[in-house]
Amino acid sequence: MQKWIMSGLFFFACAFAVILMFTLPGKAEVAEQNNPTMPEVQLDTASAEATVKASCITCHGDQLQGNIGPSLQKEGAQHNAEEIYNIVTKGRGQMPSFKDKLAPEEIAHVALWLAEKK
Ligand code: HEC
Repeated sequence: MQKWIMSGLFFFACAFAVILMFTLPGKAEVAEQNNPTMPEVQLDTASAEATVKASCITCHGDQLQGNIGPSLQKEGAQHNAEEIYNIVTKGRGQMPSFKDKLAPEEIAHVALWLAEKK
């Protein structure tokens, strides 16, 4: 009888630990993925232009006039920097995610730079 109670308690403790392991950090991660926070940087135009040249013009055109992706020439009129940071970090539709390809700071420079194009 006592053995039964002990193994019951043990099982309960394990189950609780497993639930904690999967739910707590999981929720935080999902929140971070759905709403990545843009790091605070001072706009560095040279860095932004270099990143865009290397990663974006194949789809958005060398003058940002649009190609596979839409024109970004007036992107600031569509989205603010936070929103652009979000789109570039997570990707959207045919637009790939740059979360693993660019540093958050690099994406932030690009977002601030594009947000000024109105
Ligand atoms: C593989 C092609 C591709 C690459 C590379 C790419 N994009 Fe895109 N991008 C797209 C497509 C396609 C869309 C339209 C997504 C949709 O359907 O919502 C888009 C949409 C966007 C939008 C939203 C435009 C709007 O007003 O709705 C922004 C901002 C953007 N891209 C920025 C960038 C930046 C910055 C880079 C480089 C770091 C980049 N993209 C690289 C294909 C690409």
